[in-house]
Amino acid sequence: MYGETSVQGSKNSILPILAATVLIRGQTVITNCPRITDVDATLKILRHLGCVVTREGNTVTVDSTDVNKYDIPEDLMREMRSSVMFLGAIIGRTGKASLSTPGGCEIGLRPIDLHLDAIQRFGVNIREEFAKIEFEAMKPLEGVNIALSFPSVGATENIILTACTAKGTTVITNAAREPEISDLADFLNSCGARISGTGEGTVVIEGVKELHPVQYRVIPDRIVAATYMAAAAMTHGKVRLTNVIPSHIAPVIPVFEEAGCDISISQGSITLTAPPCLRSIKTIRTMPYPGFPTDMQAQIMAMTTLCHGTSVIIETIFESRYKHVSELLRFGAKIRVDGRMAVIEGVGSLTAAKVIASDLRGGAALVLAGLAAQGTTTVENIKYILRGYENMSGVLTSLGCDIMKEERNTADGGKENS
Ligand code: UD1
Repeated sequence: MYGETSVQGSKNSILPILAATVLIRGQTVITNCPRITDVDATLKILRHLGCVVTREGNTVTVDSTDVNKYDIPEDLMREMRSSVMFLGAIIGRTGKASLSTPGGCEIGLRPIDLHLDAIQRFGVNIREEFAKIEFEAMKPLEGVNIALSFPSVGATENIILTACTAKGTTVITNAAREPEISDLADFLNSCGARISGTGEGTVVIEGVKELHPVQYRVIPDRIVAATYMAAAAMTHGKVRLTNVIPSHIAPVIPVFEEAGCDISISQGSITLTAPPCLRSIKTIRTMPYPGFPTDMQAQIMAMTTLCHGTSVIIETIFESRYKHVSELLRFGAKIRVDGRMAVIEGVGSLTAAKVIASDLRGGAALVLAGLAAQGTTTVENIKYILRGYENMSGVLTSLGCDIMKEERNTADGGKENS
């Protein structure tokens, strides 16, 4: 894999930012919006709520002046776990919300207790009925102090969204520090919100009466960037990525360096040059930002299958995020899993296989293994990959990889991609 590519906008930024537009009367314009199916699902929810949404290329315009609903139907909720992100924005706008239990990738239990506890603190009544949860603010929302028991990304974002137009000051301690949270705050601040401290663990939100529409560009996707870096490392290649913020990729750089890759950084771009033979990684432990991201665990595991020596990965964020392991074994990889720990013995080369994706990043890991394997690999069920990677096959083709996306008719008359 050789060449240069510009990295798409961040999935984990655009989703809460689109949810945030519910709080804003008038026309908000978001640029650098990735063309991924999670964005399609988010736009469907916005339209359901009464927003007028238009999309042209990578620019999305949302006018939330006439929001007239406060529920998210079950089918839309099922499409994507991040739909829970609408909770804070819908309550902030209407004082009510009605959601069913969220869907998303199958990577663990993914409860929403931290979101619910926090929302309740704002004086919102919560009633659970069958698979539905009804929320109602008993009085105008007022700022609160919330100490999170775990720095949940989604809960931090939901609290910010609830607090930004509540009366008074909200303080979140042990807040998540992911760059996407700072991006959400930067967006909201440009709309008139008063949020400080994102990226530092304690976030302070001073409520404002209303937000005004703006034009905003979302940050580049650090996980997509690191995925293409792993692809270059696994194919003994060299890739230059533009439209990146190198400091956001910093948590994964030491891993590539330990494997023997050369990394050079300049403003807005990063270049990875792979060595002839990758070295094993001693131990990688997934952690909240600025630790090693759980969203890169599967792709780095795919890389370590080729490294000389034994590597260890410990997944601390999600309890069952090893669904890709059984599929990587089909390529001839040697991986043993014991609870949250995976031990990978490098095998030097992989053999092509027919495999099935069962989550977004795990699916990307299978594509990477396929690029490095001898022979032709087929990855089925790529609907998961399309949730987060914009035109992955096109990007990889432009970098000299031999890959193509195929659409087939299924027995029940539907379409299936591989
Ligand atoms: C976000 C990211 C996802 C990433 C994850 C961790 C988006 C759209 N998704 O997901 O790509 O993998 O951060 O970096 O931004 N938890 C609870 N109770 C809660 C909330 C979370 O127990 O109420 C647990 C989860 O089950 C999980 C851990 O906390 O084990 C991390 O979850 P969280 O940080 O909330 O991740 P998400 O916001 O779902």
